[in-house]
Amino acid sequence: MKRVAIYPGSFDPPTNGHLDLIERGSKIFDELIVAILRNPEKDPLFSVNERRQMLESMTAGFENVSVDTFHGLTVDYALRVEAQAILRGIRAISDYEYELQMALMNRKLQPGLETVFMMPAAKYSYLSSRLVREVAQLGGPVECLVPELVVRKLREKMDVANKFSNADAGVSEPEARAADRAAAERKIKSRKKKS
Ligand code: PNS
Repeated sequence: MKRVAIYPGSFDPPTNGHLDLIERGSKIFDELIVAILRNPEKDPLFSVNERRQMLESMTAGFENVSVDTFHGLTVDYALRVEAQAILRGIRAISDYEYELQMALMNRKLQPGLETVFMMPAAKYSYLSSRLVREVAQLGGPVECLVPELVVRKLREKMDVANKFSNADAGVSEPEARAADRAAAERKIKSRKKKS
């Protein structure tokens, strides 16, 4: 029997940690479907289509990995695509409680479906989409956290967002950066004087 698993999530945006897990999952399942939840209640940074495109490019090298979207219950989607397992990543003990609750609820809803947990490489154990969004939104470097194409997409988003916010404030992007730098330098100087 073909072993099929789904890897459900928000992937907003997909990170190197997700990719690491996809690679590991692709080795133990015959077919792995990366399933992006279409959640109308959330206000994501990237549209479902953008996330789908990013994940498709990131996984193009894996023959047994495909990307899909779903809404509603994960277990119902798993049944529709005839998967026997749900793949989820556990990075640290802090993930455990939420993941355990979800796995047990999914088991209650669909006893025949197993949740399989895998750990990403230790170097990704602190990595989350939420932190990537935050670092990118505040102008920090995200190069080692997400694949190159996601870095580019994040930059595009931030450029658009900065244009709007600076237009509101009546300053250009370089002016805003220069003002931030000058304020930081003033702070350092006044600290040096005090010490
Ligand atoms: O990447 P995320 O946001 O941690 O993924 C969470 C996800 C999408 C796997 C979870 O929210 C989910 O399965 N949602 C679908 C609705 C559902 O089935 N809820 C009951 C799960 S216990």
